Amino acid sequence: MIKVKVDQVTCIGCSLCNEICNDVFEMNDDASKAKVKIDPRVSGNEERVDEAIKLCPSNSISKEIES
Ligand code: F3S
Repeated sequence: MIKVKVDQVTCIGCSLCNEICNDVFEMNDDASKAKVKIDPRVSGNEERVDEAIKLCPSNSISKEIES
């Protein structure tokens, strides 16, 4: 299983990840940071997640494989 994370310190809230893949990323209430949804649909969205990781301007998104 792939676990996606958004670093809450470095995210600058540009919202690109949310635009690329709103099955996985959402903005917090005041839209200042992104977060990973409680039940993110990563399966089937791997390419979008990878694109968000690549394009995030502050390199705030990471993923790890969990067993
Ligand atoms: Fe934040 Fe990067 Fe998304 S800056 S809003 S995690 S694209």
